[in-house]
Amino acid sequence: MANDNRAKLLELFSAYPGDFVSGQKIADTLGLSRAAVWKHMDSLRKEGFQIDAVRNKGYRLGGRGAPYSKDSLLLGLDTKFVGKSLYFYDEVESTQTTAFQKANDGAADGTVIVADAQSMGKARLRRVWTSTRGEGIFSSTILKPQIPIIDVPQFTFIASVAVAESVRKITGLEPRIKWPNDVYIGTRKICGILTEMQAEAETIHAVIIGIGINVNQASFEEELEDKATSLRIEAGREFSRTELLQELLRQIERFYLIYNEEGFTPIKLLWEAQAIPFSQRITVRTLQGTIHGRAEGISDSGVLFVRDEAGELHSVYSADIEFEN
Ligand code: BTN
Repeated sequence: MANDNRAKLLELFSAYPGDFVSGQKIADTLGLSRAAVWKHMDSLRKEGFQIDAVRNKGYRLGGRGAPYSKDSLLLGLDTKFVGKSLYFYDEVESTQTTAFQKANDGAADGTVIVADAQSMGKARLRRVWTSTRGEGIFSSTILKPQIPIIDVPQFTFIASVAVAESVRKITGLEPRIKWPNDVYIGTRKICGILTEMQAEAETIHAVIIGIGINVNQASFEEELEDKATSLRIEAGREFSRTELLQELLRQIERFYLIYNEEGFTPIKLLWEAQAIPFSQRITVRTLQGTIHGRAEGISDSGVLFVRDEAGELHSVYSADIEFEN
């Protein structure tokens, strides 16, 4: 099916959620014959969409079992710019790497890269992010803010409040955020965020926010079992990745717009309200070394202050935090 016809058809269905649209109306809108409309429906069905066809009523797009695909993600995505340009891949090495290439080629603000699987998903501190097909969300969003480089870490906070809000809305679970970029349910991690940037001298070309969410994994390998969980394990049922990712893109846009209009303060307040409190002693592991101490809060630009056992205050930009008992 020609791409613009497909887009028009999905737009038409989005305008009548859950309702039948007559074959004649579809034919008129797309400028096609009724037979051609029937063929389009057949191709949507083959892609995995559930289409009900009823004589004298027309066609209805069922919400259940929507496939995880570009069309399905675009259907009903009511954002202004985040995800309006969307690339969907069956498998890539890392959506971050693909996003860097797209940003180089001049991708628009809000461009999103999604993959069903990653062969070499990147995590912070040069680790690998397990990215098995069909189970998780692996996405990278390209944003082009006009901010100084020093403010880029604030985007990790924008991303984590967006993840927490969308997970809460779609699943009803209560996520908490662990500095700077992990989202937890209870004592285990459901989401990791990797914020990278493309810059030259002092000019930022793009901030690339990579988000990995454990959605439908039934279990984890032994070494991750104590640390990782999925929304399915926590809620006892599976979730539509399409629905969750659409909500996530909405929330990224929402908090990005708030940030552009009102600055970092409202984001910081929202983040603090959902963060795991720092009252305990913590171990902070960075690429430079390990610090034992207590957190003394975050700065207005999102840097974590940690006072070590000798009383020295450290500014931490990126690290793994472990709570000591
Ligand atoms: C972390 O917790 O260390 C961050 C993990 C970030 C993983 C996501 S999955 C989508 C995007 N592409 C990548 O290669 N990494 C991020």
